[in-house]
Amino acid sequence: MTQQQQQTWSQRFETSLHPAIAVFNASIPFDIQLIEYDLTGSQAHARMLAKCGIISSQEGEKLVTALEQIRQEYRQGEFNPGIDAEDVHFAVEHRLVEIIGDIGKKLHTARSRNDQVGTDTRLYLRDQIQQIRQQLREFQQVLLKIAENNLETFIPGYTHLQRAQPVSLAHHLLAYLEMTQRDWERLGDVLKRVNISPLGCGALAGTTFPIDRHYTAELLGFADVYKNSLDGVSDRDFAIEFLGAASLIMVHLSRLSEEIIFWASQEFSFVTLKDSCATGSSIMPQKKNPDVPELVRGKTGRVFGHLQAMLVIMKGLPLAYNKDLQEDKEGLFDAVNTVKSCLQAMTILMAEGLEFSTQRLNSAVDEDYSNATDVADYLAAKGVPFREAYNLVGKVVRTCLAGGKLLKDLTLEEWRELHPAFDEDIYQAISPKQVVAARNSFGGTGFTQVKQAILAAHSIVNS
Ligand code: ARG
Repeated sequence: MTQQQQQTWSQRFETSLHPAIAVFNASIPFDIQLIEYDLTGSQAHARMLAKCGIISSQEGEKLVTALEQIRQEYRQGEFNPGIDAEDVHFAVEHRLVEIIGDIGKKLHTARSRNDQVGTDTRLYLRDQIQQIRQQLREFQQVLLKIAENNLETFIPGYTHLQRAQPVSLAHHLLAYLEMTQRDWERLGDVLKRVNISPLGCGALAGTTFPIDRHYTAELLGFADVYKNSLDGVSDRDFAIEFLGAASLIMVHLSRLSEEIIFWASQEFSFVTLKDSCATGSSIMPQKKNPDVPELVRGKTGRVFGHLQAMLVIMKGLPLAYNKDLQEDKEGLFDAVNTVKSCLQAMTILMAEGLEFSTQRLNSAVDEDYSNATDVADYLAAKGVPFREAYNLVGKVVRTCLAGGKLLKDLTLEEWRELHPAFDEDIYQAISPKQVVAARNSFGGTGFTQVKQAILAAHSIVNS
């Protein structure tokens, strides 16, 4: 076989590619992942060509059947195109011609690899988004279950990583459920822009053949078609949007990871890691390391990087297709795989890899000054202006700190010396349970609120 027969481009070329340039140019090592979508897209294209009378219906059927054969060959590991195929689109076309001869050469009528690769990438991403949304649901179900079991487990709530006010552990975890719910919704929104068909935009300007773009779109389950062929072949906004949504998922997983890492430290001891999700040190026998959340936190960087890379690829790209666009795939694939593996690992970690030390958590909120706001609120409720009450309590905390006492250790006489408005009920008002229960404003940590949030979460995560 001469080089000219091997290469799919026209006879315009006299000599073959430099071998190193062939490798440099090829996308087959990574775009082979798109093969099933490429085959499905080509089958729709073949059906459309037949329906529009551009090829005969027998030819259409032969193409569809041969493409299905390639799918089976690929699944059975019998189709392994090498670097000389350049990309998955050429690889499939070569094999098609091997199987059905000249009819195979008709498939590319009224199509270009430019609209083809855009179609494949969208079909791939559509599938992946659906899978990631499902994984987000599973993660949320695990969070919800822990929340339900821990309505009355308390955890110090922090601002500036300083103890601020105690909260229900359920409330804390439900914050992550809210974040991931936004992720789920955001992906649904991205999906709207992913699910538009560029097929039939041709190389850039459309085609001279009487094609039916709406028909291929319908066969492939696209909700609409691109309205401008130049935009259709060169738009990668949908990939950027996905990478943005993926980055936010990673932000949320990484924030939770960070919390778990310090909760698991000896200093906090709020959780213990189960052996199934922790690792040891090669030198320090006492160590148990939180590798899972650390890896999730670490992997966040590469997803952000892929978003940045894609933005830079697009910036300054003239219309329409440019080979730069081949660079969209590896980052996208890696972002998809990273998000999926992190979601899976975090779901397992939360479901069975962590044990919340409820005793330690509940005693943690009983040995600090995080009920100070409630003393001020107590006085304010009795008519003392809040700012005045706030200043007074600040003074009390200072005195307590100096005397090594907690607020609950003060006697009623001591309270009364500070302000005559204090009564027996101050002790109840500053107990952690009451401190949490009292924050009953909408969206607060009060039990009534959290119970309602749990109910609302049920209808979301089981939808
Ligand atoms: N492998 C190419 C890509 O991933 C397919 C499109 C090639 N188009 C072209 N005009 N060279 O973008």
